[in-house]
Amino acid sequence: MYYPEEVIEEIRQKNDIVDVISGYVRMQKKGASYFGLCPFHNEKTSSFSVSPHKQMYYCFGCGAGGNVFTFIMNYENFTFAEAVKMLADRAGVPLPELEYNEETKKKESRRATLLEINKEAAKYFFYQLRSKHGQTGYEYLRKRQLSEETMKGFGLGYSNKTSNDLYLYLKKKGYDDELLKAAGLVSYSEKIGMCDKFWNRVMFPIQDINHRVIGFGGRVMGDGEPKYLNSPETEVFDKSRNLYGLNFARTSRKNNMILCEGYMDVIAMHQAGFNQAVASLGTAFTSGQANLLRRYTEQVLLSYDSDGAGTKAALRAIGILREVGLTGKVINLEPYKDPDEFIKNLGKEAFEKRMEEAENSFFFELRILQREFNLADPEGKTRFHNEIARKLCNFTEEVERENYIEAVAEKYHIGFENLRKLVSSYAAKTGLVKETARPKSGIQSREKKEEPGSRARKVLFTWLIEEPKAYPIVKKYIVASDFIQELYVKVAEKLFAQLEEGAMNPAGIISMFSDEKEQREVADLFNTKLEALETKQDREKAFRDIIIRVKECSYQYYTERMGRDVTALDKVLAGKRALEELKKAHISLE
Ligand code: UTP
Ligand code: MN
Repeated sequence: MYYPEEVIEEIRQKNDIVDVISGYVRMQKKGASYFGLCPFHNEKTSSFSVSPHKQMYYCFGCGAGGNVFTFIMNYENFTFAEAVKMLADRAGVPLPELEYNEETKKKESRRATLLEINKEAAKYFFYQLRSKHGQTGYEYLRKRQLSEETMKGFGLGYSNKTSNDLYLYLKKKGYDDELLKAAGLVSYSEKIGMCDKFWNRVMFPIQDINHRVIGFGGRVMGDGEPKYLNSPETEVFDKSRNLYGLNFARTSRKNNMILCEGYMDVIAMHQAGFNQAVASLGTAFTSGQANLLRRYTEQVLLSYDSDGAGTKAALRAIGILREVGLTGKVINLEPYKDPDEFIKNLGKEAFEKRMEEAENSFFFELRILQREFNLADPEGKTRFHNEIARKLCNFTEEVERENYIEAVAEKYHIGFENLRKLVSSYAAKTGLVKETARPKSGIQSREKKEEPGSRARKVLFTWLIEEPKAYPIVKKYIVASDFIQELYVKVAEKLFAQLEEGAMNPAGIISMFSDEKEQREVADLFNTKLEALETKQDREKAFRDIIIRVKECSYQYYTERMGRDVTALDKVLAGKRALEELKKAHISLE
């Protein structure tokens, strides 16, 4: 971190979370909190809450949560430093330049310059397309049925036939050769010297979700190799963490995202009104991109090419989507090659219909798999059924697995009980395939496997935040190290220190962690759902149970570590004493 903690805290305090979030989400006050539709996942009922008292937000639907910095980071896809900068500007807090360490400062200003160069290049290409030189490019795009409005919206352009005019143009603007090379726009060769990367191509600027140009794809007009030339990865262009079209798609407010293969597909889809279409960037779909999509939707419709390569790519993408907890469905584009051609030929209503009919990705996988077997031959059929059973084991949730067994049995005319037995025998042999660990952030985070007692520890954190006057009781029995997990212990230390001073500030604790994943986890600790308990007696009992549970887990944890950890013995002895006392004690929450 390169800003002092006090500055971060000042910025946070001067940006009231309700004010800031109101700029993005329409909210209504209910009780002590504000509620609205969660901007991080698609929903129809408001489960996104903002607490002015805690200065935190939390979504009960997808688990997104944090303070004003995390909100801006997630919403704008900013780094922590960028969020700090934005909120400092918003509140008029001057940022101490000097605190930036030299190296970071250089890096940040270099990034900014690279973005500037990309923007200048995009403007240049855009202008060329509309000049005399660009006429062939313009005609090419028009021939592909793009309207002037679409071309403008996506900032399409043209790179000239001359091999270094962009270089000369940018050079005149004062940028160094080194930076121009680092932006991926020019290269050097002994023979011709500095030379543009793109020439005589129609240009597709690639934007990040904040509409900043980070790279380009360029297409030959007509035949020629390579068909598309793309900017290399640079300091500002990470191909595995951006998607073409996402800058528009993310605010499309549809209940799905359409994943295509190509730039032209995305553009054609947007032109037809499907502004939730995105594509990867000349590389295969990655889990980073799946995570990005997961912020905006739960369902991804795959609209990949209908040829062999497209099918293979779709199968890969399905696996990646499943790993991050997204459901994928596959749109059938037959008899056309890709969505662009489909829409040109059959129009948007027909495409809409295909969207409705999109195939469950598991059935799609089976349908493709089936091609490898000769079902007329009993042996081939048996092997196919075995393969199905093996795949069904991947559903670790029983209800889901049963539903699939039932559906598959019906579809492939296999006896339900037989298939079920087959699945069980596979599961017995190999064990049910463990669920892939889901990233800690976002949707479904609450489903992840938890360490024993971690729920009690979370409840205790949340309870303390909600009711700081319980702290004197807690502190009689619980010390920070009882929270076991490293992150929890750190949070406990900070929170206890604040409570000692009578100045509790959970939102401030969140931004003491500079790692986004940690920030989110900390936010989670402060937002555990507490059971609604009516009577004082029930509440006191629940509270006591939680303290005992936390202490017992800690006792057990350190007992197991005796001999390996020199401090464990002390903790065990203290734990034993506290537990004995606790079992006798009456806890009063007055
Ligand atoms: P396709 O070959 O399917 O092209 O490549 P397309 O999108 O249908 O393009 P048009 O309609 O012929 O203009 C799909 C995507 O794969 C990447 C590009 O991102 C392209 O949009 N690609 C393809 C390359 O990066 N380089 C290539 O040479 C070809
Ligand atoms: Mn195409």
